[in-house]
Amino acid sequence: MASGSGGVAGVEMQKKRTAILISGRGSNMSALLSAAEAPDFPAEISLVISNRPDAAGLQVAEAAGIRTLVLNHRDFADRIAFDASLDAHLRIESIDIVCLAGFMRLLTPWLVERWRNRMINVHPSLLPAFPGLDTHGRALEAGVRFHGCTVHFVRPVMDSGPIILQAAVPVLPQDDADGLAARVLRQEHAIYPAALRLLAGGQLSVENERVEITGARFPTEVMISPEA
Ligand code: GAR
Repeated sequence: MASGSGGVAGVEMQKKRTAILISGRGSNMSALLSAAEAPDFPAEISLVISNRPDAAGLQVAEAAGIRTLVLNHRDFADRIAFDASLDAHLRIESIDIVCLAGFMRLLTPWLVERWRNRMINVHPSLLPAFPGLDTHGRALEAGVRFHGCTVHFVRPVMDSGPIILQAAVPVLPQDDADGLAARVLRQEHAIYPAALRLLAGGQLSVENERVEITGARFPTEVMISPEA
């Protein structure tokens, strides 16, 4: 259930209760937390869950006053048991939207389907190119001229699903994987909050596994990187 907050001219805006799933440093989580501070942002971050007790992002979330939960995958017999617990916690907290933000664990098709079109992910490549790990090194190896990042709805196949927003970053002659990763990450921090705003604001629909955006204020501005 979404909670109310003060809206414009006395109109109540129902903010979507959003959970962020992390496994590590949580810089994308931080970008979402910052965006959600805006009074007109249509999502509130209600819960941060990590599958790793040592995820640095947990402390960041706690410092921001966000409820955190560790579901250590090592404590569960298998993926099905882990995902059943995850799903139960999300439902107990009346979560509307789930954002995967560096959550480095495969989810079962059962869980993904339960959250169909309500679970999104950020990935550091221009999908469908370079799903999986080491995307920046593989982009350099392939000699692509443009690299980037994608926010997409989650589907059972890893790093696949209808694309919501992308940002392109030119690959420069002097780039190494770390430099390229840093430039792509800045774009992740721009498009992930933008995508959550669109989803929570009811501006996205999925037709034939393609995303339609309605009434957007700025998608073209975030799809093309302003950085050289
Ligand atoms: C980000 O670059 C994100 O795109 C990537 O992990 C990093 C997490 O960083 N996710 C994936 O590769 C998912 N396939 P963060 O913890 O600082 O947000």
